Amino acid sequence: MEIRSNAPVAIVGAGTMGMGIAHVAAAAGHPVTVLDTNESALLRARSATAAYFDGAVAKGRLTGAAREEIENRIRWSTELPLAAEAALVIEAIVEDLDVKRRLFGGLARVVKFNTLLASNTSSLRIGAIAEQLHVRGRFLGLHFFNPVPVMKLVEVVAGPETDPGCVDAAMALMRAWGKQPVRVRDVPGFIVNRVARPYYAEGFLALAEGLEPAAIDAALCEAGGFRMGPLALADLIGHDVNYAVASSVFEAGVGVQRFRPQPAQHALVEKQWLGRKSGRGVYDYSQPMPQALHAETRSGDLGIQAADDPGLLAPLVSSAVAAGLCFSDGGHLERETIEVEGIRIGLGDGRSLSRRIDVDVLIDHAREFSMAKTVVISARSPVKAQIAADFLRAIGRNSLIIADRPGQLVLRTLAQIANAAADTIFDQIASADDVEVAMLYGANHPEGPLSWARRLGCDRVRQVLANIALETGDTLYAPSGLFGQS
Ligand code: NAI
Repeated sequence: MEIRSNAPVAIVGAGTMGMGIAHVAAAAGHPVTVLDTNESALLRARSATAAYFDGAVAKGRLTGAAREEIENRIRWSTELPLAAEAALVIEAIVEDLDVKRRLFGGLARVVKFNTLLASNTSSLRIGAIAEQLHVRGRFLGLHFFNPVPVMKLVEVVAGPETDPGCVDAAMALMRAWGKQPVRVRDVPGFIVNRVARPYYAEGFLALAEGLEPAAIDAALCEAGGFRMGPLALADLIGHDVNYAVASSVFEAGVGVQRFRPQPAQHALVEKQWLGRKSGRGVYDYSQPMPQALHAETRSGDLGIQAADDPGLLAPLVSSAVAAGLCFSDGGHLERETIEVEGIRIGLGDGRSLSRRIDVDVLIDHAREFSMAKTVVISARSPVKAQIAADFLRAIGRNSLIIADRPGQLVLRTLAQIANAAADTIFDQIASADDVEVAMLYGANHPEGPLSWARRLGCDRVRQVLANIALETGDTLYAPSGLFGQS
């Protein structure tokens, strides 16, 4: 099966997603019919489309002639039976199982024998939408991301009865549309919304423990390398939407507690503090955004020793050497430990400080210590934290001091995302390559979760998770089977 670039495509639903999909399909050469039961939705979409193409011409991304050609390929109508002409119908209507089932029941009666039917649902099972259709073999999910013309990822979802040839055809078509398609089994959250869950969950857990929201977000951005912190991002998405996704993934009950929705987020939904759209979420948008407080520092000479094998802390040691700081022999120190003024500073391994007799200050992981402008630390006392902060300042890094907790913050978040990714592969929901691509292109993560795990070492990730699970007593952190047994 193949869908040619000039084959007619019908999009049902002229909202945010339907309109974006129409732009991409028309730009790829297809005659496109956008259908909606609501006349004013069509009018809105039509004028938003004109504005979108105006912008593309103004920015030099399209010539005037190309714009006219593409725009002329799109027609707008309330006559749903026009979908009968299409080789591919993509549904992007309201997220309601019964409404979607009714729509496809009607469409299945009028489309051609070989028309491909697709839903853009973000949380419903493809198999459930198609349950009563006689065309289940030609039914699949095409999950685009918002804004559709910008976001490259499309999750191509095979329902339990989808014909593999139809999945192949959809994958090829999405590539022809300039998208980066990934293949995924029909499970709630697919890849992105599933594997990204711990990013938010860990943010809300830390918040519930009393960590400052600005510190949580700053740690994940400045040390974790993410573009936006988990709490600011959840505020942007909207807590009603984000919590509903968390609940649907959890309720699918794949047996693990990995995706338990967070009470701290539920409390925001109850209060109708839904995020930016309601002016109040984790942050109060009527006030200036709070900034994370980096530790104050003092200058002065510091006596420093570094372990012969600084491991992941090597970039910090190199910075200290480059800054001309004075070292004495640290041959007696354990791997990944630095001693400053007699204070031992060591890299986190999942255990909290209370379980480590070997160090006074714990350094949380950074995605790359060579690039991190901020280092997150926990210390046994304010004096010890101050000495560590002075050292970090001397090597050009800010410090964020957070309360001692198992796995601290960045390591715990990265390890849990890797854990969710590993489960997705272990449970054969998607391939390892597709999970990596999905998180890069669908969630804008700075690195694939498995590539981070491989850099750290899968044994080490498993040990970190096991340490957190042991100390918290929470099955949420049980290492995925993909990381092997300890
Ligand atoms: P929207 O609310 O902007 O648009 C939905 C459109 O569908 C409206 O214009 C409405 O008039 C029309 N509609 C409703 N029932 C209809 C019916 N029976 N027949 C024809 N038209 C009908 O919704 P949005 O945000 O575009 O979402 C659409 C779908 O895409 C949902 O399933 C959603 O879960 C999914 N999705 C949304 C994303 C987003 O960021 N907004 C991202 C990925 C998927």
